[in-house]
Amino acid sequence: MVKILQELERYRQQEQALHWEGTFADYLRIVKASPRVAQSAHARVYNMIVSHGVEEVNGVKRYRFFERELFGLDRALQRLVEEYFHAAARRLDVRKRILLLMGPVSGGKSTIVTMLKRGLEAYTRTDEGALYGIKGCPMHEEPLHLIPAPLRPEAERELGVRIEGTLCPQCQLMVQEEYGGRVEEVPVERVVFSEERRIGIGTFTPSDPKSQDISELTGSIDFSTIAQYGSESDPRAYRFDGELNIANRGVMEFQEMLKVDQKFLWHLLSLSQEGNFKAGRFALISADEVIVAHTNEEEYRAFIANKRNEALHSRIIVMPIPYNLRVSDEVRIYEKLIRQSDVIRDVHVAPHALRVASMFSVLSRLKESKKQGMDLVKKMKLYDGEEVEEFKPKDVEELRAEHSNEGMSGVDPRYVINRISSALVTKGTRCIGPLDVLRALKEGLDSHPSITDELKERLLSFIAIARREYDETAKKEVQKAFVYSYEEAARTLFDNYLDNVEAYCHWQKLKDPVTGEEMEPDERLMRSIEEQIGVSENAKKAFREEILIRISTYARRGKTFDYRSHERLREAIEKKLFADMKDVVRITTSTKTPDPDQIKKLNEVVRRLVDEHGYCEVCANELVRYAGSLLNR
Ligand SMILES: Nc1ncnc2c1ncn2[C@@H]1O[C@H](COP(=O)(O)OP(=O)(O)OP(=O)(O)O)[C@@H](O)[C@H]1O
Ligand SMILES: [Mg+2]
Ligand SMILES: [Zn+2]
Ligand SMILES: [Zn+2]
Repeated sequence: MVKILQELERYRQQEQALHWEGTFADYLRIVKASPRVAQSAHARVYNMIVSHGVEEVNGVKRYRFFERELFGLDRALQRLVEEYFHAAARRLDVRKRILLLMGPVSGGKSTIVTMLKRGLEAYTRTDEGALYGIKGCPMHEEPLHLIPAPLRPEAERELGVRIEGTLCPQCQLMVQEEYGGRVEEVPVERVVFSEERRIGIGTFTPSDPKSQDISELTGSIDFSTIAQYGSESDPRAYRFDGELNIANRGVMEFQEMLKVDQKFLWHLLSLSQEGNFKAGRFALISADEVIVAHTNEEEYRAFIANKRNEALHSRIIVMPIPYNLRVSDEVRIYEKLIRQSDVIRDVHVAPHALRVASMFSVLSRLKESKKQGMDLVKKMKLYDGEEVEEFKPKDVEELRAEHSNEGMSGVDPRYVINRISSALVTKGTRCIGPLDVLRALKEGLDSHPSITDELKERLLSFIAIARREYDETAKKEVQKAFVYSYEEAARTLFDNYLDNVEAYCHWQKLKDPVTGEEMEPDERLMRSIEEQIGVSENAKKAFREEILIRISTYARRGKTFDYRSHERLREAIEKKLFADMKDVVRITTSTKTPDPDQIKKLNEVVRRLVDEHGYCEVCANELVRYAGSLLNR
């Protein structure tokens, strides 16, 4: 049988399993057994997020729900979840405010909203996130609304839930006309959210911001049935199909919110404040939903600068969503966008190509620090968790505290991806490298019409920085590939150094491994390594002793001390290896007419880059040529 047919069958069964129908009396038993089915929309969203797991990394909570799509936004997301959703889930007042995500263009705002919608849809299909509504209610309202007000305190005590809101006009009529007030017989069904089917998830996009009709939100008179029922206040002559109606119990996204007419907005905001809204000629209609909108900083400033909007501020809660500020996370963003792009998906992206672009964009988003000895490059590295000479993790916290709105401007991720695509088109190859990317970014600046000279200067300087950082990497990468089995060479040199240091500190002699002859410690060798990291003649003894202490500490803990265990020693070893190799590499890579030996060596290097370091033939050869030219300078 065709596989898809089996899948279809399985899918149908799953859908059927989600179906449940019973009476209100049955529903009360369900609530009694698991009160969470009656939780508020905000609580359901919060529990959905938490259900995916929470980790704590360096004092920042990481909500795993977001981790597949969003990178480097942990702090902003922690704030969003804790200050809005968690507080609202506990029925604090923020729940009555509209959530407004504020951040720069392409910074992930829409992605957050979409994730919440899709996440909630999926959650309502689980046991944990299940919810129920009055059957046939256009707002799939909470069946507990059926309980008359005087009986609610008692019901709340017995069921352990809060009951808020009143029956919608249509259900009121239905209860009277069809059930003569016997609410326990009213049919209840399980509700599964689906934006596609307009259940529990809605998106409102104003068609004309200036003359927006509120009925798109709150429903409208049904002119086809009004003659039949004779009155506009008969709920059967009204269609409760506005976006607010259908998104009841779930999430409504409000696009372009700050662009709509103020009167319209007022209408909406009073809704969220009171937990109910006015539709047609009806008494107030209860609503329980998360309303989320997004905007950029400029638009928001203009909005609050307008005196007439003043009263609206207190009804909105603003959550900043800044750009990511970590280079390694920016790389992940580009990787994601590339997977989604038809143009770039199938080409080879050379190692470090995305990294240089990331440095460029992150630098453009950073603000200068007043800290002594700090510059943007160091700041960039510290933010990314790299070690930078004299600075400590505590300094990173201080750096963050220096500017409250860092990351609210700068180069956006989409721009970079667009530049990379256009570079591909121009270059016409199947591989794109770091230099191509930097060139494309530079050309982008040249052809950018609306950019000031000052900003252009600044951005060009970031391209230059990214280029310098890459040059260092390029040299290292080629030199490493030149040393056959780099690790082994490093380890040999390291062992050799340690043997000598040990003999030196203990006033001993070494044995020549071949002749068995006794020898003095090799001072030249030790110094040639130590000098690489600036250990002076006076400091060498202390340095060597410190190494020995480290070794014994490691030994006591049963750990092996290798050349990676000591950051500075490792740097020294690598530099020494590179220094020894430099001439070979320089000559081999830059000669116009290589001899057979050199050709063999070069082929090996390219092979190694391809097999072990993620290069393709094209970028491996480019790298070797480029490193050669750098070493010749
Ligand atoms: N921090 C991030 N992590 C992962 N992806 C990101 C991040 N920031 C932006 N993106 C990606 O960049 C693209 C643009 O983001 P999105 O559309 O969500 O931004 P936005 O803030 O809504 O922008 P706009 O203001 O233009 O509406 C999306 O594909 C998004 O996933
Ligand atoms: Mg958007
Ligand atoms: Zn109803
Ligand atoms: Zn390549």
